[in-house]
Amino acid sequence: MAVMDAAFEPFWREAWTRQQVANSLAMPHTYAILIDEYGNRPAIGGDAAGFVLARRAPGEEELLLIAVRPQMRGKGLGRKLIEMFATMARDAGAERIFLEMRANNPAEILYRSCGFEPIGKRRAYYRTLDSTTVDAITFARNL
Ligand SMILES: CC(C)(COP(=O)(O)OP(=O)(O)OC[C@H]1O[C@@H](n2cnc3c(N)ncnc32)[C@H](O)[C@@H]1OP(=O)(O)O)[C@@H](O)C(=O)NCCC(=O)NCCS
Repeated sequence: MAVMDAAFEPFWREAWTRQQVANSLAMPHTYAILIDEYGNRPAIGGDAAGFVLARRAPGEEELLLIAVRPQMRGKGLGRKLIEMFATMARDAGAERIFLEMRANNPAEILYRSCGFEPIGKRRAYYRTLDSTTVDAITFARNL
């Protein structure tokens, strides 16, 4: 939650609340991957620099959320998290992984360079703090 609170611009309303995270992690097929500033798994209770929240389904997995602390960006942690997620998904039998982002999120550069390609659009799916609507773009990568 410390990374969540630091990483997301409130304007886009992308951050999840503690309750939303708790509810999602209580589901059997949802999990989190945490990394520290060196790209390793933090010790229990240790500081996290970034995380992924993901959901597993037969043959496919979805990256629900990814974030890295602002002061630790640009060091490859985001790419490392995506590759950890892809490896775990492949090891669990997934053939395809998905994610969804608001249109024009700069993270698109990272997603494309990790092999994700856009496959669909949901019009006016997100609503910003000033009530502007923003499309959602779905990306997929074959494993
Ligand atoms: C998206 C995010 C996780 C990337 O984390 P990161 O640790 O900075 O990513 P990396 O250092 O691994 O960057 C990998 C590449 O993508 C590029 N990139 C990553 N995020 C970028 C951004 N916001 N703008 C421009 N380029 C970006 C980097 O330049 C880098 O390219 P390179 O490997 O050729 O140098 C981070 O910017 C973040 O937490 N953003 C806020 C939360 C968010 O928007 N999450 C996505 C929606 S759920």
